[in-house]
Amino acid sequence: MPLATPTAIDGWSTNQTNELSPSAKIAGDAEESSRSTNSRTPTLIGESPVMKKLFSVIGRVAPTDASVLITGATGTGKELAARAIHDLSPRRDNAFVDINCSAIPETLIEAELFGHQRGTFTGAHENRSGLFEKASGGTLFLDEVDALNLSAQAKLLRVLQERTVRRIGARANIAIDVRIISATNCDLAQAVAEGRFRPDLYYRLRVLPLQLPELCTRGEDVNLLVDHFLRLKAERMGQQQVRHFTPEAMNALREYPWPGNVRELENAVEYALAIGMEDELGMADLPIEIANHVPSDLHDFRSVLQAYMNDTVPLAEIEKRYILTVLQQFGGNQVRAAAALGIDRSKLYRRLRQYGVKAVKFFQEEEPHGLQFRGGKTTTTAH
Ligand SMILES: Nc1ncnc2c1ncn2[C@@H]1O[C@H](COP(=O)(O)OP(=O)(O)OP(=O)(O)O)[C@@H](O)[C@H]1O
Ligand SMILES: [Mg+2]
Repeated sequence: MPLATPTAIDGWSTNQTNELSPSAKIAGDAEESSRSTNSRTPTLIGESPVMKKLFSVIGRVAPTDASVLITGATGTGKELAARAIHDLSPRRDNAFVDINCSAIPETLIEAELFGHQRGTFTGAHENRSGLFEKASGGTLFLDEVDALNLSAQAKLLRVLQERTVRRIGARANIAIDVRIISATNCDLAQAVAEGRFRPDLYYRLRVLPLQLPELCTRGEDVNLLVDHFLRLKAERMGQQQVRHFTPEAMNALREYPWPGNVRELENAVEYALAIGMEDELGMADLPIEIANHVPSDLHDFRSVLQAYMNDTVPLAEIEKRYILTVLQQFGGNQVRAAAALGIDRSKLYRRLRQYGVKAVKFFQEEEPHGLQFRGGKTTTTAH
């Protein structure tokens, strides 16, 4: 397969040009990426147009020294992208130092970033360099940068403007050569509008903004990611044989909306590998919220169809998902669902039996009508 359209940046490459190229070890398909993937090499995976574009942007951004602000929901791969930028940059032989700004108490964050002189405050028993000094010649990754308080923001801005850092309690400034990559999963522009984040710092950090897409907007990447994690986990567990999901379980994985994005998918694969006793991993091996998920509306159904475009999926499977989706649209009301589908109610009932979907009638005021699942079977709450 030609490598011109990358689906993975693998091993972060040694390429230093503005173009990602075959010599940058860009994997072209799942097989290719998994061959060159090992447990020590983090790999950004994706074959959707939006991910291919992201790889291309990362390839262009990496060789520069400009500050990058990576935004995106939790689990979309912000930290992985930050490491990719560092490892594709001329700074890759120097340190990549990361700090989670929300994990350090407000009172310690400045000492952590800038260092301190002995005796400056209680507990400062010795001179200590800060993370800026430790990242010298390399990259400092400020994760969850929105958590910095206004005092730390002011000091950070000064460091970025003057390119020098002064340890707390010290008199002299130390010149620093550090590239800054920051990440946040909150709306930093909104934080600026609300006065929680300095606008001057915001613009200094986001010279090159990078937005990571949510997994639900790139359903076509699910197959590739599942394959990638199955291979990766097998390798980490020292297993020769790579296990696979049944077609039904793969459908469930494709249809799930992944609110936790790639991290949730990775965890789901790990869960299935731990729970599954057979060579093939089935519905019963999936986390309950995935096994029990039913597409909530016809829009979901359209995206499911979209995800199937590259695969050959049995017509009966499409029919099943469509019937269940319409049934849910009508809150489990079979009469209305059958009318909307243009079939007899008896035909709908036969289909549901065939799918193992048991329609039960019960009334619970506090529970909205809709599809529910009991003991692994689908049941519907009906009017
Ligand atoms: N495109 C991808 N290809 C392969 N693995 C990925 C991809 N995106 C994310 N991952 C994996 O998903 C997990 C979460 O990624 P990461 O920590 O980079 O997300 P994040 O955006 O920083 O999340 P958070 O906001 O919660 O910190 C990691 O194990 C990472 O290796
Ligand atoms: Mg992160």
